[in-house]
Amino acid sequence: MEAVKIGLIGLGTVGTGVAKILIEQKKLLEKKVGKPLILKKIADRDLKRPRPVDLTGIELTTNAEEVIEDPEIDILIELIGGYEPAKTFILKAIKNGKQVVTANKALLALHGEEIFKAAAKHGVDVAFEASVGGGIPLIKGIKEGLVANNILHLFGILNGTANYILTKMTNEGMPFKIVLKEAQEKGYAEADPTFDVEGIDTAHKLAILVALAYGVPINFDAIYIEGISQIEPIDIEFAQEFGYKIKLLAISRSTEAGIEARVHPTMIPAEHLLANVNGAYNALLVKGDAVGNVLFYGLGAGMMPTGSAVVSDVVDLARNLIKGINQRTPALAFMLEKRGAKPILSMDELEFKYYFRFAAIDQPGVLSSIAGILGKYNISIESVVQKGRELNGAVPIVMLTHEAKEANVKQALKEIEGLDVVKGKPIFIRIEDSLRVE
Ligand code: NDP
Ligand code: HSE
Repeated sequence: MEAVKIGLIGLGTVGTGVAKILIEQKKLLEKKVGKPLILKKIADRDLKRPRPVDLTGIELTTNAEEVIEDPEIDILIELIGGYEPAKTFILKAIKNGKQVVTANKALLALHGEEIFKAAAKHGVDVAFEASVGGGIPLIKGIKEGLVANNILHLFGILNGTANYILTKMTNEGMPFKIVLKEAQEKGYAEADPTFDVEGIDTAHKLAILVALAYGVPINFDAIYIEGISQIEPIDIEFAQEFGYKIKLLAISRSTEAGIEARVHPTMIPAEHLLANVNGAYNALLVKGDAVGNVLFYGLGAGMMPTGSAVVSDVVDLARNLIKGINQRTPALAFMLEKRGAKPILSMDELEFKYYFRFAAIDQPGVLSSIAGILGKYNISIESVVQKGRELNGAVPIVMLTHEAKEANVKQALKEIEGLDVVKGKPIFIRIEDSLRVE
């Protein structure tokens, strides 16, 4: 093999970063791989849009099939995103015996099992480092660096857009909509930004991580998902007063009973490292039974960081091709046929500490009505704050609870919402004090 030939579908934010690295770092990569990596062909729907990269000498087409069917192409990179035609393109490339690289976590979270089984059948690899954590090499880290460990838990800030929004709301008091627009302009957000703000993108990533960590099939549908669109500046302020920061966390724990897998805004101790991961940065705290806690940290989105992760996959696969090997590392860390089937636990069964905020009419007896209902459901209060005077006929009452069962909390909040003296929906945010010791 004289050179490794690469085809790219999708010359958007990430595709442009990948093309820039493959073209501008050609010499560096050849020194590291031993043979030239040649970006032979690129397909994109719009070839006229200006991009910050010189594509001289590369074949350009608007027809992705021309890349997938090119017999000279060894490695196919899919960077168009979405479910279709991305899935069809990847399955065709696998069938054509090509190695595949993708950053498409949405596709892998829902159809990864089918794709990885097809790859195993055809003896090719599908690599996906950029799909979780942008530029952070955390998939390789879990699959290879932490191979000796049983993974005990994962705590991740895995969406750059959501973290960028929460950071700007916290540090600069900026309104949600303006910050979201900024994140879109910087190329962090998904084509549909509700995936970012409603926690869906984080859950796609967690679905992949759970499979990698615990050796179970990818099960996106079992993940509990809540986003950040309900977070108000007042909750961020109260969190700070209690010594917490609010982060959109992906959390997973392996227990005797099963696996916890959940995505929701979470109050975490302000002094914890994760509370200080800001802007488009991502972080993943992984605990292995041998190694203890390991923290991965870096930029989770954007053209060049994500391009860096995609090219790392290309290099891995190119090295395999040059050595004449494939499937050296199982795609999902465990041999497909050796995986187990541990259940994902229902949220109702789990117990958390909570932050509650009620908008209540400022009159005697309100607090005791609320406390009475909480007591009925076995929810004990750790602290209460009633702040300020009336605003729009209500005052905020804020409570922190001791650990309580989620099913009880849901019922209690429904009952409290029905009180005449309470206005609107009660707000609740789960608290992860377990991080104080991690
Ligand atoms: P973009 O929308 O910026 O780029 C996608 C490109 O693919 C666009 O130029 C699009 O054209 C083109 N395209 C779409 N469909 C086709 C098709 N059928 N044939 C040829 N070209 C096509 O997306 P991103 O670069 O941001 O994301 C790409 C992938 O990487 C996604 O899976 C995303 O989730 C993932 N990712 C993105 C990160 C980021 O920071 N942006 C980070 C990590 C992963 P058109 O514009 O005309 O639709
Ligand atoms: N939209 C994603 C984010 C891109 O904001 O994190 C990286 O996966």
